[in-house]
Amino acid sequence: MSALVVVGAQWGDEGKGKVVDLLTADADLVVRFGGGANAGHTLVVGGEKVVFHLVPSAALHPRPRCLLGPGMVIDPKVLVRELEVLRARGLLPAGRMVVSENAHLVLPQHFLVDGLREAGPGAIGTTKRGIGPCYQDRAARRGLRAIDLAHPAELREKLAANLEAWRPFVEAAGAELPDAAAVADEYLALGEAIVPWIGDVTEAVYAAHRAGHRIVLEGAQGTMLDIDHGTFPYVTSSSVTAGGACTGSGLGPTAIDHVVGIAKAYTTRVGEGPLPTELHGDEGEALRRAGGEYGATTGRPRRCGWLDLPVLRHAVRVNGLSSLALTKLDVLSGRETLEVCVAYELDGARRDTPPARGLERVTPIYERVPGWTEDVSGARSLGDLPPAARAYVARIEEALEIPVSILGVGADRDATIVLSDPWA
Ligand code: IMP
Repeated sequence: MSALVVVGAQWGDEGKGKVVDLLTADADLVVRFGGGANAGHTLVVGGEKVVFHLVPSAALHPRPRCLLGPGMVIDPKVLVRELEVLRARGLLPAGRMVVSENAHLVLPQHFLVDGLREAGPGAIGTTKRGIGPCYQDRAARRGLRAIDLAHPAELREKLAANLEAWRPFVEAAGAELPDAAAVADEYLALGEAIVPWIGDVTEAVYAAHRAGHRIVLEGAQGTMLDIDHGTFPYVTSSSVTAGGACTGSGLGPTAIDHVVGIAKAYTTRVGEGPLPTELHGDEGEALRRAGGEYGATTGRPRRCGWLDLPVLRHAVRVNGLSSLALTKLDVLSGRETLEVCVAYELDGARRDTPPARGLERVTPIYERVPGWTEDVSGARSLGDLPPAARAYVARIEEALEIPVSILGVGADRDATIVLSDPWA
């Protein structure tokens, strides 16, 4: 077993940080393959909370090398800050980090455009971290890459041209573009701390694979936010599913041994877009409070609802999931009964997976299952769980036809039950 992919199976915020943390303790190499500072991976280590937006969650373990893949979009300010956090903890020895030369740079005009769009009628509730406009520039082949930080004269030229490309949109919106020279100065100054880490991620990943080292490809966001497979247009602008793990890291698909999907024991979403099992009013608020459901990046309250099996079925298919890591089971404690959405009804027909159109109109078909009142956060084996909690897990396995390999029962690193080791 050499390479493991970890992806979100819902709308992001599934608790990937903690699962990745567990799976990477013995890994040799971890690659974050997509997205940017729109993600916020929260880790609680010994009671202390650490949030990373760019560097892989695994960076807090001393062992694995940490790579930022070519599929990423990097805000240099955030990266410099996170490198500093690692350096201060003695976790940044030479060679530990590689930032892909091909990763794109999030520029001030991307933040500006993201903000302008979000202030208008087409707002989708982005994190306003410039992600969409940055990927847009990448697709339009006019973006700047990390490697440009090492070539000041070229960077200045490309930056000026890029700003001009945005001028019509920005001026029509009544806003002002940042000054090209000032942006170049700022980015080149930040670049001094980044350039030493820039390198060929694909070479490092290939060498690790050839040597039989353990590689984790770490995803951000979740399947339903994927540009191809999510609830378009209420999605992020990158490929967050398992296919994106290959393109965004440079590791070919034949190297992948296991794909772990991460799902909460219920459902949450931040931003706009359909959420079929959403609970409004007191019920939603109770779940939000119990789960501490506020965005790690923006602090926004997350929308909360019951577990949605059609969404997870879709995630199993498009990611080729080998197993599921089910997180935050403890949050569901204290309820007599729980609802699980097993299918949808749309225009009189039953659907087992989300439709490409009309998801906002579906009626969830719920199955009522017994809940449990016990606190499960101390459980360390399946046998420690109340029968109803075990039955809940079994129902999910039955519906998805894949095993649950990991169960999260609390926020701390130890509050985890490993049912089967994805590395085995
Ligand atoms: P963007 O990625 O900032 O463009 O935002 C697009 C959509 O993805 C919005 O609905 C965001 O709330 C959502 N989103 C982006 N990153 C994350 C994440 O890490 N967790 C949860 N939602 C996210």
